[in-house]
Amino acid sequence: MSTRLTLRHALTAIGAVTALSAALIGASPAATAAAPAAPAPTVAAPDIPVANVKAHLTQLQSIATANSGNRAHGRPGYKASLDYVKGKLDAAGYTTTIQQFTSSGATGWNLIADWPGGDANHVVMSGAHLDSVTAGPGINDDGSGTAGTLEVALAVSRAGLQPTKHLRFGWFGAEELGMIGSKYYVNNLPAAERSKIDAYLNFDMIGSPNPGYFVYDDNGPLETVFKDFFATRGIPTEIETEGDGRSDHAPFKSAGVPVGGLFSGADYTKTAAQAQKWGGTSGQAFDACYHRSCDTSANLNDSALDNNSDAIAYAVWNLSTGTTTPPTGTVFENTTDVAIPDAGAAVTSSVTVSGIAGNAPSALQVGVDIVHTYRGDLVIDLVAPDGSTYRLKNSSGSDSAGNVVTTYTANASSEVANGVWKLKVQDVARVDTGYINSWKLTF
Ligand code: TRP
Ligand code: ZN
Ligand code: CA
Repeated sequence: MSTRLTLRHALTAIGAVTALSAALIGASPAATAAAPAAPAPTVAAPDIPVANVKAHLTQLQSIATANSGNRAHGRPGYKASLDYVKGKLDAAGYTTTIQQFTSSGATGWNLIADWPGGDANHVVMSGAHLDSVTAGPGINDDGSGTAGTLEVALAVSRAGLQPTKHLRFGWFGAEELGMIGSKYYVNNLPAAERSKIDAYLNFDMIGSPNPGYFVYDDNGPLETVFKDFFATRGIPTEIETEGDGRSDHAPFKSAGVPVGGLFSGADYTKTAAQAQKWGGTSGQAFDACYHRSCDTSANLNDSALDNNSDAIAYAVWNLSTGTTTPPTGTVFENTTDVAIPDAGAAVTSSVTVSGIAGNAPSALQVGVDIVHTYRGDLVIDLVAPDGSTYRLKNSSGSDSAGNVVTTYTANASSEVANGVWKLKVQDVARVDTGYINSWKLTF
């Protein structure tokens, strides 16, 4: 068994429904469950060019230099940083939202970016904090996480990625004042929205000049994703313990969202054993410029920044592009005949869908078998559980052929899958008649 398959099985623990259980639940008496197709492979993640990440950091450094040397909450360098990141995301096709809050008498903002598409009921979110301390430009803390996350978001756009899950990215304000922005974001998310976030990944300090490779251990499957990535590079990792819970993942974790993330070390001292496995200097801090004016664009280790940026991409691709829900090939069918009155009222035939997590697919297959002597008389609609109607076929005075035996495709991706679906058929012209023989939905 490949590593990838093992990983996938671990990940189903954080998804709502596995392919197997969905197929089993789908096998209610009114429905016949086809064997689920094998899970689609995840799409391979790209290598993130560290030069691009560094170019963002050069810009953040320039912003700090032009604004009294920092990018802190309540200072002009913060808003300029936000404008820079937002501009890149907007140009790449993201839907961006600025969320305003007030802290310590100053206005702050979170920046949220959604990549259009994916299953809105399964969100993979990645984030970093966008503010620095007032003492300096905050290039490692947390320009590094800001730039790495930004470049991965831009890589999603360059790849034209169409993930199974919905991708969201966040840049939070006022982390250095006590995770104010991320607390505000989480507290203002309705509980229903919160529960749709399958994972929040946090990247706070990923380019420390004397780096370590620390992986958050808050959630096993998410920890495994990162460990698997570093294993492919032959880089040993350790569990992150330096001030556990001291960054923006903490409010998500408190709200019950599975969290993960990476950290290359702050003011703790690198041990001899750590220098042995990671290189660098033992007896010195991972980041001697932590929260100081010297946290500039010179305060970076390019290899750590590169490896960690690639790790972000690996996690985002792996967590969002696999098949977790729903399995294809689960069939729900109604074979009871329903007479269609001549030039009369519409009739319906129902199919109850259950055990399918999330929404219906964008190409929902609607198999229709209607016996009729003049199919041009017929208007056929699919009615979703909430009553939304999808026109499958119009009437036609010139289509004199008989039966309708075909498969229509409806874009039902905005409909919750589970519930009672109806095929609605109306005969709108006199003389010819018929009946619904059977129809089925294939998820
Ligand atoms: N921005 C964090 C802080 O100033 C940096 C930090 C320290 C950190 N320890 C951490 C980030 C552990 C993640 C995990 O507190
Ligand atoms: Zn930080
Ligand atoms: Ca008729």
